[in-house]
Amino acid sequence: MTSPQYLLSVKDLEVRYGPALAINNLTLEVKPGEVIALLGSNGAGKSTLARTISGLVPVASGSITFEGHDISKRAAYHRRLDGILYLPEGRGVFPGLSVTENLRLASNTLARSKRKAAIDEAMTVFPNLAARRSTKAGMLSGGEQQMLSLARALTVGPKLLIADEMSLGLAPKLVDTVFETLNHLKSTGVTIILIEQFIHRALAFADQCVVMSRGNLAWQGPAAGAHQEVLTRYLGESAMVG
Ligand SMILES: Nc1ncnc2c1ncn2[C@@H]1O[C@H](COP(=O)(O)OP(=O)(O)OP(=O)(O)O)[C@@H](O)[C@H]1O
Ligand SMILES: [Mg+2]
Repeated sequence: MTSPQYLLSVKDLEVRYGPALAINNLTLEVKPGEVIALLGSNGAGKSTLARTISGLVPVASGSITFEGHDISKRAAYHRRLDGILYLPEGRGVFPGLSVTENLRLASNTLARSKRKAAIDEAMTVFPNLAARRSTKAGMLSGGEQQMLSLARALTVGPKLLIADEMSLGLAPKLVDTVFETLNHLKSTGVTIILIEQFIHRALAFADQCVVMSRGNLAWQGPAAGAHQEVLTRYLGESAMVG
């Protein structure tokens, strides 16, 4: 069997929260190894798309195909086993569990024999976490919790990583760490959908750019071609910075 051209295909997707339409007729294709910068103003539907791809929000109509298989109705847990990892906005860690326990939980999609090495490797990238391995995640600073969330991605080595506002509120040095980590994941062939407030930085890192506006796909094209004119049209003043 030849491998499918696209790792992920979203076709005519509609998503609703009760009666409210959050995603309207969205079609999107992502090739293996690509980085997509997913942009859009507040409430555009970026996190909803991320949640729907990862199985946390149901598809109202349309389909989601991953590695050639329709996963539209697949449980979130099974999509994680398939290799889809969503790092949510805010701090996607378990506050009552220690740093090590959080990473152990992330590693449970790996073969048992590979788990420890994967956790150790993630810890070497984040020495601050290694030093606090027994600390409950809820006791870490906001920035450290975001690093722990990223460390989950390093531990798991997903096929598709959806990173939702990983650099929000971080000091510049930690924002650099976020991008270095994403770059490392990219170099190992991980496909990435990046939702990011630092628009220009995201575009410099990404291959393709997708702009959402009010639940619709407003613009898509090569990241290098997302000119200021496109950004200001859909993102307004926020596109002027970063
Ligand atoms: N759990 C929910 N219940 C009802 N409506 C929701 C829910 N989550 C999001 N929405 C609505 O869906 C729309 C899209 O929200 P979403 O969080 O996907 O936007 P976003 O692009 O991620 O925005 P932001 O940049 O602020 O994170 C918004 O109108 C929002 O109010
Ligand atoms: Mg969001």
